[in-house]
Amino acid sequence: MEATSATSPSLPRSIEEIRSEFPILERDVNGVPLAYLDNSATAQKPVAVIESISDFLANHNANVHRGVHTLSEEATALYEGARGKVAGLIGAEARDVIFTRNATEAINVAAQAWGEANLKSGDLVVLTEMEHHSNIVPWYLAARRAGAELEWVPVDDEGRLDRDSFSKAMEKGPRAVAMTHVSNVLGTRNPVEELVAEARQAGALTLVDGTQAAPRIPVDVAAIGADFYAITGHKLYGPTGVGVLHGRREVLDTLEPFEGGGSMISKVSKDGITWASPPARFEAGTPMIAEAVGLGAAVDWAGDLGIEAIGAHERAIGSYALERLGEVEGLTVFGPSEGDDREAIVSFDLEGIHPHDVAQILDRHGVAVRAGHHCNQVLMERLGVPALTRASFAVYNTPEEVDRLVEGLEDCRRIFSDGG
Ligand code: ALA
Repeated sequence: MEATSATSPSLPRSIEEIRSEFPILERDVNGVPLAYLDNSATAQKPVAVIESISDFLANHNANVHRGVHTLSEEATALYEGARGKVAGLIGAEARDVIFTRNATEAINVAAQAWGEANLKSGDLVVLTEMEHHSNIVPWYLAARRAGAELEWVPVDDEGRLDRDSFSKAMEKGPRAVAMTHVSNVLGTRNPVEELVAEARQAGALTLVDGTQAAPRIPVDVAAIGADFYAITGHKLYGPTGVGVLHGRREVLDTLEPFEGGGSMISKVSKDGITWASPPARFEAGTPMIAEAVGLGAAVDWAGDLGIEAIGAHERAIGSYALERLGEVEGLTVFGPSEGDDREAIVSFDLEGIHPHDVAQILDRHGVAVRAGHHCNQVLMERLGVPALTRASFAVYNTPEEVDRLVEGLEDCRRIFSDGG
């Protein structure tokens, strides 16, 4: 297997060197070495990220934006520095980057704060059949409050969005359109620049869920042009507990807060309250300071490898996985069979064996995968399956781990053909 194609940028360090930066990859599971293929659920953390958090807590811990003492100034500089690093990663300006708890909260901030002021009875909100629940439920709630309707862009048999249906939905003049950049089940990369342009032309507010895109594709929010772009830290080699909402300034400036509390006000008096400017307006209370610092370190770490090179490595592993999975009898892969719009997230069904059983047997082989509906019940219904097994790859994965996945799947088949 070629690690990368001739035209792809290559990683500056070997995979062995990169793997050695992840302490967890050295551990055993059930007496065999771990093969961690559940990266779309959460990625593992390099030493650089782990140490940045412990250094913050050991040496700089204080609250931000409050004190004038040295530690508070250091903590504020680190927290705001992390915002600057995230902004750099996605081609944004720091003041348009809001820290949230995760991507789910980022989408809730957008759907709630924008929806409350803008959605009204009879309005249309367009979603796609490949959305994660985190990009469905917040819009369902906002639409229900306003009396607006939801409409769904279908997924075709190859696992891509039905482009004509998208355009037809735009002709109806939706008020908002929300779409994922990369599907967490199908691995499909949507042409978001083009879709956002069409939606904005139709007069809709646009939100792109970049949860699965940011760890593997260079993201340029200015080029994408969406009103909101959401990401999470923990899939980008950072810690849990921190996500990001990027908003277009013209939109952010008009929004009321998502939550009330300290830090998000300009003035509070008995007569009334005025809001701080974004991003502070949307960051009530003490924020996730250590987590943001960890995310900043993750952005530095991934940036040093190069997001494009990370994605190229993953796509090479993903192609190899598609090839090897094709050899397993009774196995059906969902999502584009290959192509430029296919990321290394591979969901499949093994005929006659429930994904939970598949995942349990793989676990005996030390292979960690996710099984279930993947928080995509609308998509499961479209695909006509109750659940799938998913292998999702990261920069530290190797072809040998794909081989171990395939060996584990052959074992599943043996066990079930022998009657379990
Ligand atoms: N959204 C995460 C996944 O797809 C949790 O597994």
